[in-house]
Amino acid sequence: MIRVADARPFQWEYRPDPVDREVFRVEGGRVLRGSVPISGAKNAALKMLAAATLTGERCRLTNVPEIEDVRVLADVLRDLGVVVDHPAPNVYEVASGDVEWLFVPLEAAAKMRASFILLGPLLSRFGRVIISNPGGDRIGRRPVNLHVDAMRALGAEIEYRDGYYFARAPGRLRGGEVRFPFVSVMGTENAMLAATLADGHTVIRPAAREPEVDDLIAFLQKMGAEVERTAPDTIEVEGRRRLRGAEHRIIPDRIEAGTFVVAAAVTGGRVTLEGAPCGHLGAFLEATSAMGLNVACGRDTIEVDASGAEPGSLRACDIATAPYPGLATDLQPPTCVLLSQAEGRSRVHETIFEDRLEWLGELGRMGARVEVPDRHHALIDGPARLRGTEVEIGDLRAGASLILAALAAEGTTTIHGAHHVHRGYENIDGKFLDLGARIERLAERETAARA
Ligand code: UD1
Repeated sequence: MIRVADARPFQWEYRPDPVDREVFRVEGGRVLRGSVPISGAKNAALKMLAAATLTGERCRLTNVPEIEDVRVLADVLRDLGVVVDHPAPNVYEVASGDVEWLFVPLEAAAKMRASFILLGPLLSRFGRVIISNPGGDRIGRRPVNLHVDAMRALGAEIEYRDGYYFARAPGRLRGGEVRFPFVSVMGTENAMLAATLADGHTVIRPAAREPEVDDLIAFLQKMGAEVERTAPDTIEVEGRRRLRGAEHRIIPDRIEAGTFVVAAAVTGGRVTLEGAPCGHLGAFLEATSAMGLNVACGRDTIEVDASGAEPGSLRACDIATAPYPGLATDLQPPTCVLLSQAEGRSRVHETIFEDRLEWLGELGRMGARVEVPDRHHALIDGPARLRGTEVEIGDLRAGASLILAALAAEGTTTIHGAHHVHRGYENIDGKFLDLGARIERLAERETAARA
């Protein structure tokens, strides 16, 4: 049993982001034109940084997005004693030889819920870890019971006290049946990471089918793990004693790609997304096609042509979020911006997170006609004329979507809480500027001075 008293006082220091007090100022009404590179997937990169702790050998990851969440997780790993190098833009190297310090503090969890992905690999490789309960965030309660149950199914002993999970594997974790009551992305990944070094065979079902999970499987296989998706909803792992270092290029970010599709559409623009994962956007592209948006998929490009489209030429469409291959909940907010510009009434059903429609209040303040009868449903009537105003970002995807609304709006929008967007989008303002948008990042005090 590990006790808090056994733990060294932690060194993780809360460093407020320099971007914490920034706002975006967007002058709407500019037509976006040109091409934009799509960055590596946030939700794959974070898991691979965690997976790299499964071996003492050096791992090299390329196409890593330059985003706050990656920087935070890299810092958390460094504070554990892991060597994390960043030799070039979008390249990270991780070497976790002697990690003795197995404590992931509250500050890490408070900054980024995904830090909980360290539970599985650290427990499996080092036999113990103390990790903070990440609790909820602005899109819902977001419990971690499925992760904890999965570790227990693999033989871990886990106690919860004072906001921390004290987890220990007597001897080695042992392979077993991990049955989830419903699909969880990180739950699947945590179980899979833990099982790679466990003793024996593990079956995970229902396993999440997101492309980022398959990318993680590909990386683990390069590390020598015996892990395979044996059916669409099943992942099987044969535990190994050791894994080796590996190099991997991260897949493109389908959520960033969807965000730029909407940006082109709502500004009446013509934009080519370079390195875009068309094949991973099925349900989203079905919705945009039902709305009448002109999108063409190439081998690794997506072309969106909304030039010359009359306002209201898009049709309303009913959408419901679902685990992959359904419509990603992370694309629900951008899709709502698009629906606000479509003719007629659209119904939105958010099935994954209970507070993910809250941000629609801000979209409403910009002139969208939105009703939210309950926490999982919204009605959007369009096309609405959006007007620039002052809005506040509550979470990452809502933040990007308020930028989209601002690009489509008449006048200037001031968007507070820019740091939420930097968590998950690489250089978002720079990419929009290159497409001809008028967007600037200002310190909060500068906007106060100008007001
Ligand atoms: C991941 C993604 C996030 C995306 C989400 C759903 C990362 C870092 N984040 O989050 O961007 O929006 O998938 O596609 O990859 N749940 C429980 N108990 C648990 C775990 C989850 O009840 O222990 C519930 C959640 O509250 C939610 C549902 O399960 O209602 C699905 O969440 P999950 O797939 O686990 O989301 P994350 O992996 O946290």
